[in-house]
Amino acid sequence: MCGIIGYTGKKEAGRIMLDALELLEYRGYDSAGIALSDENGGRTRVAKCAGRVKDLRSLCAEKDVSGHCGIGHTRWATHGGVCDSNAHPHQFGAVTVIHNGIIENYRELIEKYELDGKLLSQTDSEVAAAVLSRFYQGDPYAAIRKTVLKLRGTFAFAVLFEDIPGKIFAVRNVSPIVAASTEDGAILASDVAAIVPFTTQYFVVPELHVVCLSGDGIEMYDLSGDRAQIEWMTVDWDITRSDKGGYPFYMEKEIMEQPRVIEETVRPRVKDGRPDFSAEGIGDDVLVSCRRICVIACGTAMHAGLVGKSLIQAIIGIHVDVVMASEFMYNDPVVDENTLVIAISQSGETIDTLEALKFARKCGSPSISIVNVKGASIARASEHVIYTHAGPEIAVASTKAYTTQLAVLYLLAARMAIARNLWDEEQTERYMSELLRVPDVMEEVLARKEEIHHIADTILNARDVFMIGRGLDYSILLEGSLKLKEVSYIHSEAYASGELKHGTIALITSQTPVIAVVTQEKLKSKELSNIKEVQSRGAKVILLIKGKEVLEQEKIWSRIFRLPVMEDEFMVMPASIVLQLIAYFVSLDKGLDVDKPRNLAKVVTVE
Ligand code: AGP
Repeated sequence: MCGIIGYTGKKEAGRIMLDALELLEYRGYDSAGIALSDENGGRTRVAKCAGRVKDLRSLCAEKDVSGHCGIGHTRWATHGGVCDSNAHPHQFGAVTVIHNGIIENYRELIEKYELDGKLLSQTDSEVAAAVLSRFYQGDPYAAIRKTVLKLRGTFAFAVLFEDIPGKIFAVRNVSPIVAASTEDGAILASDVAAIVPFTTQYFVVPELHVVCLSGDGIEMYDLSGDRAQIEWMTVDWDITRSDKGGYPFYMEKEIMEQPRVIEETVRPRVKDGRPDFSAEGIGDDVLVSCRRICVIACGTAMHAGLVGKSLIQAIIGIHVDVVMASEFMYNDPVVDENTLVIAISQSGETIDTLEALKFARKCGSPSISIVNVKGASIARASEHVIYTHAGPEIAVASTKAYTTQLAVLYLLAARMAIARNLWDEEQTERYMSELLRVPDVMEEVLARKEEIHHIADTILNARDVFMIGRGLDYSILLEGSLKLKEVSYIHSEAYASGELKHGTIALITSQTPVIAVVTQEKLKSKELSNIKEVQSRGAKVILLIKGKEVLEQEKIWSRIFRLPVMEDEFMVMPASIVLQLIAYFVSLDKGLDVDKPRNLAKVVTVE
């Protein structure tokens, strides 16, 4: 978590950093700060405060933040509460530091370097600044090398040394840093979103390499002091896609973009009516040889994995585990060369997923990652990568990343079926034409946005909401429930409807709205019976159901939404959009900060 920016060049660094921090704010928004190098080698100037970047902007309006070289930070608090003194940058002696990550041995370092009583904050980051300051005797590379060797944990640091004006030094371990040359200088950031306004050419700073940015360009050295080659990459995100496009919040804009980004994710991977991953270098051998699949992911990405599991088990008939990446390592995972590991991550930086993937690779598992951000750590750590073409997802609540992850899983399942000779021409044609129809069906649902808004009104004042369904319906409700929780702060639980009577039904009263999803023909009669059970306990039920069939209980639904008809396995796509919009409208109508829910950050780079 935490957003990092650094700029040196001919332009005003303060303005550039504040704008960039706004783009990075989704990584954390507990506090923000900038530091500007003094061109005459005087004291580095710092402006920082608890709160959002807009608060920092107001603070900067009262301060001298002129200068052409600076670093900036937006924080998601880990060590130390949310207050001005814990905001970054941290200054110690001649060094000024911003940090993303966690220094696990910070207590030992405080003791070893007798820092007790000398620190102004409760952060682990200031401890690293103090150690760096102690080692700094005029050679920044040597000081950074020595410091890094004393640290345990994850870090991305950007550093200003008072007596080296105009230069920014940076180093990282696990936590990401990307850097780029601009037309008049150089820039670095925790992720590409902040550098896209300047250039499309960038590189990912390799772990444990020190980069130095100056007005003349960028130099990079490894920890032995040898000059290292920079591997440039091109970002293909369109900058105009990073604004709100007239919508009040990114979440709405991103929900509305889904038909287009699904199209952009699927179309290029369909050749002669069949899914094709040759551009990704994924041959059929990888898909044929595995005996089981293990999906590792967190949050929404894990929910996408659950849909993938149902698809692959149903179509291919091999066992698929979906493991919460944060739990993977603690359950003695059984993965080997016969287990295809699929890591799913929008950001490609979620540390739990990254660590789980690295572990699986050490066990000999072949791996494919499904990632949205090009060149991200998870993409680089896996053998193969399939990029979702969702474009920048800025809202903390993931929407379009989820459905593009699903789209890739639909393609993968089909490629596997073909590679294993499980399908004839007709089956392939039927499945693929349904997949290609998804964008149009999504458009149909989006056109009924106001109808969904009325549905959202019915749960606006609820304290608890239950969501019930079976099979695939249950999987998508897990995601729908997460969405509602994170943006509306309403407690909600997705429950497999057959499981309710084993305890949870005790919580159902007339005050507990229940959202039920019924899209799977083979489960319909059981699902409808389970719905009757909660209705009998007084619950008002909002029903999302496939098609137009007249139902026995027609009159007693609190609200009913008829989903457009697709083959059962594809109903996840239209149903997900309804659930996303319900969560969005509840948050909007409650007057909450939809894009930046409390306590959260978009990218989770701490374990
Ligand atoms: C989604 O709405 C969440 N904010 C969160 O669960 C997210 O999906 C999770 O942190 C995983 O992130 P990733 O896809 O970037 O790995």
